[in-house]
Amino acid sequence: MLFADLLIRPAIHADVEELQNLIQCAYRSPSAARSWSHEGELPAGERIGYDRLAGLIGGSLAHLSVAVTGERILGSSLVTKRGEEWCEIGLLSVAPDLQGQQLGDRLLREAELHAATSFAASRITLEVLEYKARLICYYERRGYTRTGLSRPYPHHLNTPAHFLILEKRLPPA
Ligand SMILES: CC(C)(COP(=O)(O)OP(=O)(O)OC[C@H]1O[C@@H](n2cnc3c(N)ncnc32)[C@H](O)[C@@H]1OP(=O)(O)O)[C@@H](O)C(=O)NCCC(=O)NCCS
Repeated sequence: MLFADLLIRPAIHADVEELQNLIQCAYRSPSAARSWSHEGELPAGERIGYDRLAGLIGGSLAHLSVAVTGERILGSSLVTKRGEEWCEIGLLSVAPDLQGQQLGDRLLREAELHAATSFAASRITLEVLEYKARLICYYERRGYTRTGLSRPYPHHLNTPAHFLILEKRLPPA
């Protein structure tokens, strides 16, 4: 881990513009095309809109985190309470130039901890496109398993795709 002064903290409204850019870059931008997990194959377009991102800040059922060093946002994660003892992780992203240095791992572990301690979750789920075999393996190496559940990708694609729903049991906080 190269980030000696790394801080993972709740996102604030002043972060939204930079964070939206970071998420867009990590998931969709051509500059991330060499990344092993990017979504460059999906139709271009906003990964998440400014207003939707801003609306996640300070909510009682969602916790949006940013990883920062100094003035720069390096990554993000979102924990959403979905039900009794159940949370979902989303928006896990790391700046393309900083991937592969365990920042994603760190964000994921912090998100799991937050789900267990703040939302009393005993299980956590996330969604991965079914053909993203390397990402599925990434999560399996971190204790996630396939639930057998899936849902269709909600936008038009030439080849329709599904999100697989993965799950991890969390130890009591
Ligand atoms: C997924 C993501 C958050 C991971 O963050 P990261 O900081 O790069 O991850 P880490 O440094 O913790 O781990 C890197 C992992 O990538 C793996 N990896 C690196 N290059 C790879 C490649 N070419 N193929 C497959 N796996 C690769 C490494 O083996 C390592 O996994 P391991 O620790 O189990 O061995 C980041 O790649 C990202 O932002 N991707 C775009 C957004 C996205 O797809 N988010 C997830 C949506 S479900």
